[in-house]
Parts: sequence; C-alpha cells; structure tokens
Amino acid sequence: MDATDGRGTARGALDATRRHQSPQLALVYGMNGCGAIESSGEGARLRLSDGRGALDFGSYAVTLLGQRHPAVLAAVRRELDAMPVSSRVLANGTTAELARALVAWAEPERLTKVWLGLNGCDAVEAALKLARLATGRTRVIAIEGAYHGKSLGALAATWNARYRRSLEPLLGGVSHIPADVSALPAAFGPGDVAAVLVEPVQGEGGVRPLEPGFLRALADAAHAHGAFVLADEIQTGLRRCGPRLVSADLGMRPDAVLLGKALGGGVQPVSAVLATPELYAPLTADPFTHTTTFSGHPLGAATGLATLTAIEELAPRGARLADLFSGGLARIAGRHPDLIAEVRGRGLLWGVEFTTAATAGEVLMELGRRGLVVSPCLGRPEVLRLLPPLIASDEEAEEALAILDAVCAAVPDEFRPPGPGPR
Ligand SMILES: Cc1ncc(COP(=O)(O)O)c(C=O)c1O
Repeated sequence: MDATDGRGTARGALDATRRHQSPQLALVYGMNGCGAIESSGEGARLRLSDGRGALDFGSYAVTLLGQRHPAVLAAVRRELDAMPVSSRVLANGTTAELARALVAWAEPERLTKVWLGLNGCDAVEAALKLARLATGRTRVIAIEGAYHGKSLGALAATWNARYRRSLEPLLGGVSHIPADVSALPAAFGPGDVAAVLVEPVQGEGGVRPLEPGFLRALADAAHAHGAFVLADEIQTGLRRCGPRLVSADLGMRPDAVLLGKALGGGVQPVSAVLATPELYAPLTADPFTHTTTFSGHPLGAATGLATLTAIEELAPRGARLADLFSGGLARIAGRHPDLIAEVRGRGLLWGVEFTTAATAGEVLMELGRRGLVVSPCLGRPEVLRLLPPLIASDEEAEEALAILDAVCAAVPDEFRPPGPGPR
C-alpha cells in the first residue's frame, strides 16, 4: 500500500504501532504479515499491502459472514444516509427493531428482554450486574478455563491467571469450578449464588466443548438454588456451532444468552444480552441502572438486523461446510499424529491442539506465510483455532485444509517431538 490512499504505508503502520501502541504488537504483526499489513477484505479473503492474498479463517470469530457481506454493507449504508447515531432522548426505530428481531430469533417465549452493547465484555458486565441486582446475592460460579473478557468485572470470571494476577483483588464472589458434575454439590451454598456464567464450548480456553450432561446438570443445579444461568454465547452463538444457540439446543433453559462478535456482521461492534423478564427486572424497573452512550446505536442495530437475516439464509450452507471441514481436519490429524494431539470443536469452531506450544507457534507463522489466517487461543498457546466463515465455498475450505496439511508436513525437525515417529 502506498501513502496516497490516506491509510498509510505498511512500514508506517508498523512503526506507529511500535511507537504508540506496543513494540511487542508491532513485532508480532510484522512477523505474521512478513512486513505487510492487511489492506482490504472480500468474503473469505483478505488482501495484504504487498499484493498477497490470504484466506480469513480466524479474526477471533468475528467474520462469520466473511468480510464486507453485501447485505450488511447495504444496511449500514442505508442507516448512514438516515441517522447513524441516536439522540438517546427519542426512541429509535432501527434499535427497537433489532431488539424485537433478536427476541423473535432466539427464544420468544422466554428471552423477551434485550440489552444492547458493543463488545462481548459489555454484555458480560450487564449480565453480571443484572444477576446481582435481581437476586440480591453476590456469588457467581464460572468454569475453569473460561474466557469472558478483560474488563474488570468480566475478568473476575475469566480463568487465565496471566490476565488476573497483577490486578487482584478483582470483583469479589466469583469462584471457578471444574467442568465436572462431581464439583456441583459443593459449589452451591444455601441461597448464596446469583448466577452461573458458562461458555458451552470454551473458545479462548482451547476450543473445549463442555459435556452436554455437565452443562444440563449445572443449569439444573443453578435453577434449583434460585440462581440464574448466563450462557456466554459470544463466540458459540449465531450458528457458529450449528444451532442458533448451543445452550438452548442442549436444553439448558438459560436465563440470559450473551451475543457479540458475529452479531456485528464483520462490519460493526455489536453485542447483546437476551434475558428473561425475571433476570431483567432491575432494568425494567429503572432502565438507567446500566447504560452506555453507544448502546444500541442505529448503525450497529442496522448491522445486527441484516446479520440475523443473512445468517439464517446461510444456515444450510453452514451444516455442509461443518461436515466438510471437520472431516478434513480429522484426516489431517490422522496424517500427522506426531504433531497433532487432538482436534476438537463443533460446527464452524475448531481447535487443533499441537503437541507443544512451540509447534503451534511455528505452524501459525507458516500458515500466515502461505496465506491462511487463523486465531491462536490466548489461554492455550498449543491450540490454534480455525473459524471458517459461513460464506466460504467448498473450494475455499479445501484450500484452507490443504494449506494446513502442507504446513504440518513441512514442520522442521526442531518443532517435532524426538523419537522414531514417521516423517
Ligand atoms: C466467550 C467470550 N466471552 C466474552 C468475550 C469478550 O468479548 P470482547 O473481546 O468483545 O470484549 C470473548 C472474546 O473473545 C469470548 O470469546
């Protein structure tokens, strides 16, 4: 990219990142892009500043609809021409329509209330506050390995010590339990738990689908103790894993479902809490208890509306792609047993666990060099996350699998476990 398009050169961008954001970030970006930066995106493909292309099977689960989905762009353009921000003293038709559409899309009989935000951690904060206010209790149970964001409240429910250690004490009352039914009896004291907060498939924690039996037992135990079930579907929801909502599909009867990432259609930051009237009661009583300036802003609301429609239209495509992709990953794991310890996931959310974090790091870099962008797992560096977008063609999925296979075949000996294993 040259400087004339007003978006800066690759060298300038990396230099500004180093000087004004973080030297470490600049180093990682520079290595990932071999000195180039991202410059545009279309569907499942990115274009880099040096002219190379790459498949985007990462972007931390945001680009479920790929880059620049035409229906989402059209909705954003219409809203830009009408009223992109709200006065917030008048009702806004687009915002209200997104709330109505989300309720109709999810569980219209039970989850009838909606709070809108921008990021995943906004949704987590809102849900935690609602649970505390609605119950008058302060304890929250989260799961070992969980990731719920890094704002101070959400961080208390995030498991990874790396992010928590230097900030403690965090929000009090949050305890982590193993994802095991035997841990449940001791977890709930008499009438003290406000909520359980759980990802049905842990994403950042290494793409770890939790046992359906455990998830149902957790939800049942919470309800038996008068606690709310908060399903963090910021990564798993919106058909990333197949069904609209994994928690509803598994019969957990969540009192809140948290959405983010893909809800913005790969174009805008949008998140939401869908809640029962009982959990939402504090905001029904006083809507100013929890507000943010841009909550439900019309540009994001228009995006969310177009996104819901596009995702539903693509649902059959997602099922076919999931079969193709999971089958391909299983075959690759079978061909490289010395490198790949396990492949896990559901739908279009897959984790490949390598035998060491160093191997995963080497594979990540080489994938980037050969044109496949994937996301590392922040809590489990030995796992790479592969997130095919719903709009990917069979050919693009096959191309991504072929790149992964070729990269695994070419991993240098120093990143392979010692021993006689096949080459
Ligand atoms: C399950 C889950 N919850 C919450 C969050 C936090 O979302 P955000 O980074 O948008 O604040 C994430 C982000 O990765 C997530 O995966």
